[in-house]
Order: sequence, then structure tokens, then C-alpha cells
Amino acid sequence: MESLSKIIEILRNQKEVSGEEMASELGISRTSVWKNINRLKGKGFNIISSRRGYRMIEEADLLLPYRLRGLINTKIIGRHIEYFAHCDSSNNIAKKLAREGLKEGTLIICEEQEAGRGRLERKWISPRGGLWFSVILKPSMTPVEAPGLGFLTSLSVVKTLRRRYGLEASLKWPNDVLINGKKVCGVLVEVEAEMDILHFAVVGVGLDANLSIKDFPEEVQDIATTLKEELGREVDRAKLLADILSEMERNYNSFTLYGLESIFQEYIDLCSTIQKEVRVVQHGREIKGKAVEIDKEGALIVLTSEGRVRITYGDCFHLTNT
Ligand code: BTN
Repeated sequence: MESLSKIIEILRNQKEVSGEEMASELGISRTSVWKNINRLKGKGFNIISSRRGYRMIEEADLLLPYRLRGLINTKIIGRHIEYFAHCDSSNNIAKKLAREGLKEGTLIICEEQEAGRGRLERKWISPRGGLWFSVILKPSMTPVEAPGLGFLTSLSVVKTLRRRYGLEASLKWPNDVLINGKKVCGVLVEVEAEMDILHFAVVGVGLDANLSIKDFPEEVQDIATTLKEELGREVDRAKLLADILSEMERNYNSFTLYGLESIFQEYIDLCSTIQKEVRVVQHGREIKGKAVEIDKEGALIVLTSEGRVRITYGDCFHLTNT
């Protein structure tokens, strides 16, 4: 990894560098330089090789680790970055790396996912221009507490969008982020655990950043939005990601130290589900009524014609806008 970063640094600072120059600067063989250049190409770096040497074409809006490293100021989340130009799903990569022992806070970024996954086994459309990333977390907690990781992450996205762009972003229970009632971001938490112990969690975030609504299938065009559509311009995804990670780390620290209660009030204040007529779809079951409360464990309380129902999972639809 060390050589890869150094090669990127050298290529950024010079127009063209020969393999020999690079080898002597790094103290490695020309074959190693060549192998590392190929690894970088595999990671999506646009490096042109000619008889004179190597030249890198910088693409301004890629989430390249060297650029992110200058922006991320966290202590845990995002200190180690794995970058992929293409992948099946950043959550899949994160789970594999977590099993291999990669440390807490590791950030996996994919510019484009071929098999992005959403909650409840849905497909997540992930073309270039979105912000698709996963974070490996290893909190000492029980699996039942893991949904809190989804709450704190979606809360972090909402707060960042409000602060950074002045957007009226809100939460839809449990983890969706809405702007003007349309979904702009989703969070997928996956865990590996035994009954009482959580081995690790992977928190995947899909934020529709620099996409047009036409990038989505027709059936979701009315219910989804993107930052580009809302702001009328593209955003700097690297700076946005760095801000989200800082907010996430702050909330993660309070959550692991003091529990869900420590972020609960902020979640409630920014949640647009409360007081709305809702329909919640669970496997083979539908619950309709007024969402009146979110309890201290994060469950949604819905007042139905048959009384109060406590809902811990499902797909929630807002039936009213006010
Ligand atoms: C949802 O259904 O709302 C959750 C969507 C989560 C999508 C993100 S994109 C990055 C990460 N990798 C995936 O395959 N899914 C999550």
C-alpha cells in the first residue's frame, strides 16, 4: 500500500515519469513499479504508459484515497480506505474484509456498483456519480443494539446535508433520508453475530449525489431525488463524504459510550414520519395508521384501528405529506 500511495504522489507532481526514475526514487525494481502501476489501473486510476514512462490523467471528481486523506479528519472512521472503481457491492467487500480482520473504521468506496443492495433484498441502482460507501464497525454490543448504527448513520447524513447545503433533509423511519418527501439516501446495516455478541457490523450508505433523475428507472423517478436535482449543480463528493464521516464518528462515539438515548432526541427532531399517516409493509403483513412515536429502542409506534402496534422493521410509506 505504501508504494501505491508514493507512486500516486510522484505521478501527481510530475507530468511524466520513467519506470527507472520511479524505481530509484522508491528503492524498488522496475518490475515492481510496473506491477504497482497495473494495480493502480485496476483500482480505476487513469495512467497512460508509453515508451517515455507513465503519466496520470487526473479525474477531478473521483473519490481517490489520496484526495480524501487530505480532507478526512476523523480518528477511526475512514482512517483506512479501500477504493474500487467498480465492484459488486461495497457492503460485500466490507464483509469480506471484516472477516479477514480489517480494522474498525475501514472505509470501502466504490465509484460504481454492479450489484448494489438495498434493504429487504432490493436492488440498489448505483451508477457513477453517486456516493456509495461502507464502513466496518466493531462496537462491543449485542446484535439487538445494531439498528442504532443505522439510526446514527442516517442522522449523520441528514445533519450534514442541512449544514452543508441548507437543504431541508429529514429522516423517514428507520433509515431513509428525504428531501421534499423524496428519497435521496438509504442505509443498509448488515451484521455478523452470535446470540449475544456482535462480531462486526457493516454500514452501507447510498447517497444519490451527482445523478440526474433520468439515471433511475421510471418507476422510482417520482419518489427519488438527487442532490444535483435539488441544488441545480453538482456537489464535491469528497468534501461531502469527509463531512459525513466526521458527523458519523461524533454520533458513533456517543452511541457506543452512552447508548441510543444520546442521539435519540436529535433523531426524533429530524424525523418526518411522526404524526404522519403511514403504511408499513412487513413480510406478508401490512399495518396502516398514524405514526405517533418512536420508542427508546427505535421501534415505530403506530395507532391503528385495532390499537397501538409496535413495529421493529419493515418498509414505511408516508401516506400524507403534512
Ligand atoms: C436502502 O434500501 O435504502 C439501503 C440502500 C443502501 C445502499 C448502499 S450503497 C453502498 C452499500 N453497498 C450496497 O450494496 N448497499 C449499500
